[in-house]
Amino acid sequence: MIRRSICVLLLLQIVVNCGIANGGALKVNLIVEPPAVRKGQHATLRCLYDLGSAPLYSIKFYRGLREFYRYSPSEEPANKIFAFPGINVDKSQSNASQVVIRNVGFGLSGNFSCEVTADAPYFSTATAAVQLQVVEYPEKRPYLWADQDRYEPGDVLRANCSSPPSRPRTELKFTLNNIVIQPTDVQNIFTPEGLYATRISLKLQLQSSHFRNHHMGYGQLSNSISVNGGLVLRCTAQIGNLYQEYSEIELGVPQRDPIPARVTSSGATRLGLHSLRSTNFTPHTSDLVVAATVASLISTFVQHFIHHSSR
Ligand SMILES: *[C@@H]1O[C@H](CO)[C@@H](O)[C@H](O)[C@H]1NC(C)=O
Ligand SMILES: *[C@@H]1O[C@H](CO)[C@@H](O)[C@H](O)[C@H]1NC(C)=O
Ligand SMILES: *[C@@H]1O[C@H](CO)[C@@H](O)[C@H](O)[C@H]1NC(C)=O
Repeated sequence: MIRRSICVLLLLQIVVNCGIANGGALKVNLIVEPPAVRKGQHATLRCLYDLGSAPLYSIKFYRGLREFYRYSPSEEPANKIFAFPGINVDKSQSNASQVVIRNVGFGLSGNFSCEVTADAPYFSTATAAVQLQVVEYPEKRPYLWADQDRYEPGDVLRANCSSPPSRPRTELKFTLNNIVIQPTDVQNIFTPEGLYATRISLKLQLQSSHFRNHHMGYGQLSNSISVNGGLVLRCTAQIGNLYQEYSEIELGVPQRDPIPARVTSSGATRLGLHSLRSTNFTPHTSDLVVAATVASLISTFVQHFIHHSSR
């Protein structure tokens, strides 16, 4: 949208320049670095222009409709700063093409533009605009909490997740073995510092389907492993495409004393992924448990599946 309106402006300008002044087309582009500026940091607005052979008459920077910085080589001094609440121009770093604003606050988010005017004889003028966004990221990854250490099908999982304050708001999302689970409740709190804290909570009766392992994708392998169902709860915090962090906890089924009947018949369905690695899984594993490294166990594991799927 912004780019389109810049293009429209440029087109209009070209028409105006060619039609009235018959001067060269003046091209202007404004970029902000970084596009999302953290509160308290500095932003650089770079106005890129091509005057062709014409000298520069002036370059003006605006926030909304108000000019806050001007550079005109013919004046003394060449650069002027116009007081604007919240805009602290770093004069030493600002010149005929860029302006540096120090210690930005949230109030500065919005439309910035630069207007370039060529000197005589044409005095052609062109403008470009850009949106500046002032942000604050959560200072830590999300906090994730569940009411038990381990769950099994039929249990009710109660969990919550909260993100430290940010701006704009952090979106939080639960996933259980990579499947998105809608939260039962969402809370947003506006802090006195002008930030948003978010908290989501969950109350979910677990089905055996939740224990399927979706990390390995679909198909035979994931179905085979599903019976050993670990449960991984993850909370992802995201701000658009600017920020993403997650926390996760592993909530396998309860550890049980080894009951021989269960271990041999249905043991696989009762074991979390952690215990799987150190439990009888192939006929020879009891020896391996003593001697083998985790690496060799994993390869046994893989061979087991290959063996099974080739049947
Ligand atoms: C303005 O300053 C920047 C950074 O020092 C520099 O890269 C740029 O060339 C300067 N522009 C002009 C027109 O002097
Ligand atoms: C930004 O400001 C420029 C210059 O004042 C104006 O032409 C443009 O329409 C504004 N854009 C938005 C999105 O407000
Ligand atoms: C989750 O809820 C419990 C109980 O209300 C509370 O003690 C805990 O601080 C909360 N944790 C998070 C991460 O919101």
